[in-house]
Amino acid sequence: MKRTHHCNELRPENIGQEVVLLGWTHSRRDLGGLIFIDIRDREGRTQTVFDPSQLSSETFEKASSLRPETVIGVKGTVRQRPEETENPKIKTGNIEVVAENLRILNTAEVLPFIIDDPEVASKVNEELRLQYRYLDLRRPEMARNLQLRSKVALETRKYFDENAFLEVETPMLFKSTPEGAREFLVPSRLAPGSFYALPQSPQQFKQILMVAGVERYYQLAKCFRDEDLRADRQPEFTQIDVEMSFIDREDIYQIIEGLLRRIWKTALDVDIPTPFPRLAYKDALNRFGIDKPDTRFGLELVDMTDEFKDSRFKVFSNTVADGGVVKAINIKGLACATQGQIETMTNHARSFGAKGLAYIKVENNEWKSPIVKFFNNSEKEALKNKLQIEEGDLILFAADKWLTACEILGKIRLYCADILQAQGKLDVPEDQYNFLWVVDFPLLSFDKEMNRWYSSHHPFTAPVEDDIPLLSKDPKAVRGQHYDIVVNGVELGGGSIRIHQRDVQKLIFEEILKIPPETAEARFGYMLEAFKFGAPPHGGIALGFDRLMAILCKTPSIRDVIAFPKTAKGTDLMTNSPAPAEPKQLRDLRLEIKKGKEQ
Ligand code: AMO
Ligand code: AMP
Repeated sequence: MKRTHHCNELRPENIGQEVVLLGWTHSRRDLGGLIFIDIRDREGRTQTVFDPSQLSSETFEKASSLRPETVIGVKGTVRQRPEETENPKIKTGNIEVVAENLRILNTAEVLPFIIDDPEVASKVNEELRLQYRYLDLRRPEMARNLQLRSKVALETRKYFDENAFLEVETPMLFKSTPEGAREFLVPSRLAPGSFYALPQSPQQFKQILMVAGVERYYQLAKCFRDEDLRADRQPEFTQIDVEMSFIDREDIYQIIEGLLRRIWKTALDVDIPTPFPRLAYKDALNRFGIDKPDTRFGLELVDMTDEFKDSRFKVFSNTVADGGVVKAINIKGLACATQGQIETMTNHARSFGAKGLAYIKVENNEWKSPIVKFFNNSEKEALKNKLQIEEGDLILFAADKWLTACEILGKIRLYCADILQAQGKLDVPEDQYNFLWVVDFPLLSFDKEMNRWYSSHHPFTAPVEDDIPLLSKDPKAVRGQHYDIVVNGVELGGGSIRIHQRDVQKLIFEEILKIPPETAEARFGYMLEAFKFGAPPHGGIALGFDRLMAILCKTPSIRDVIAFPKTAKGTDLMTNSPAPAEPKQLRDLRLEIKKGKEQ
């Protein structure tokens, strides 16, 4: 049999043609002596009709016993579907193929789950879907995700090619540089006792490529991080990784905005407006309580520090006296929140170390709250004005150190937005894409447990030029030339202008991050060396390709856009990996490590 058409190809203009369709038995219905079989491939499906009056009884028998997912070939003639039997939901819905011949190419046993009904399929346990991933990927929704991923990858390559970028592959067997997430180690047989590490990202290689004069690099790069997994995190994932020489932040914004415009147009036929708005890290925290705000809705945080600095309510005034802040949020229309919901919010607050979560419910023109009795009239008036309090509102307060207070209310804002959305009180349009650049991050953050500074992004990020003198005097005030790109509350990517001067990089490693010189030399010596020989000014960014695809495919989990993802425990349920090593492999490994130590 020759493959002539795929299963989403035939249209009314093919009526009368003899065709062959190859694919899977999607569904079978026996109706009034006729058998209707939808044959499906990755493109779509077509209805075929088996009429006993026009077929050998043997063919008809075969058709009537077909099990779902049996691989078949149908030869027949395309005809118009009778009136009122047309199916506007599928593109081939105006026609059907009257079967003349049926070949069974391979049978399928009883399936572990139904795949022809999206309603049912969406409720199938994900572990079962991952175990039988090849069946799961046959589902039209998943097949569409894979196709869209391929299309977006191709468009990305075209875009970078048109903009004079080179795609350069970088090694998977890299060197351990334990700065960021935990790494996966790979033992070396030829150097017993030594290990490669799988790259967390091609960061160092892409910078070295700039020193090598590549000037504009990109790669759809595989990255590996041994971290706790969530819906938006996998131990191996893909980045659209970019690096450019002789540029500043504006050039990166422009290139990435162009890329995203192109991708959104190709994938969704949506024109996204550029340039994207920019928001300073501090403002993002102050207004939304998070550095990746979803700006499709308001519910912004309001600062009440000044108003409550002398309050009779000691929780507030004492916090201000200790250098903290009082922040509030007005959740419009949620005065009806249940005790359980308030408890969940309080637990969110406690998970950040807060002592509690004060609230006011505005119901029946009354402020119901355990704390308003402490407020004087001017405090109440200030609340009313700044928070625009009305009937039905729920006001929540966090009194704490600035970052903590912001983060608590930021979490609560998202939690409440979900509730309001479910109640139909808040419109968060799904097909609106609010892109923004978050900028002016602090270069360094302080790790209390380790009692040292660490890089907010990574140690190669350049400080803002004007802030360099502050490095030793006031590290926390130094801004990094780092930017994140955010869309609808998702951190899509991040990058920075890099340090390209050897002395500045050495100062950051040794003086600021307190990495002992020998360790810095062992880990990053080759970079410091490379910077001796003419490193151009450079910078770059990496976009999480899986996250990007999840947004385009409108799914909350990146597992739905990765062909073979891992579970939250890091297992591949189809192949059952990771698995214990064979005893011999383990013995050899131990011997090699021992040999390495003796050498
Ligand atoms: P960063 O660590 O911010 O930057 O990563 C860039 C983007 O990659 C995505 N991402 C992930 N996606 C899925 N699973 C994960 N475990 C995961 N971790 C990160 C996110 C994130 O925004 N080398 C730098 C970039 C640079 O400076 O140029 C880097 O890797 O979408
Ligand atoms: P207390 O005085 O501890 O009984 O607290 C009175 C109210 O203030 C309770 O509703 C607490 O949940 C809340 N509360 C306590 N500490 C804080 C804080 N740091 N920020 C916001 N609310 C708090």
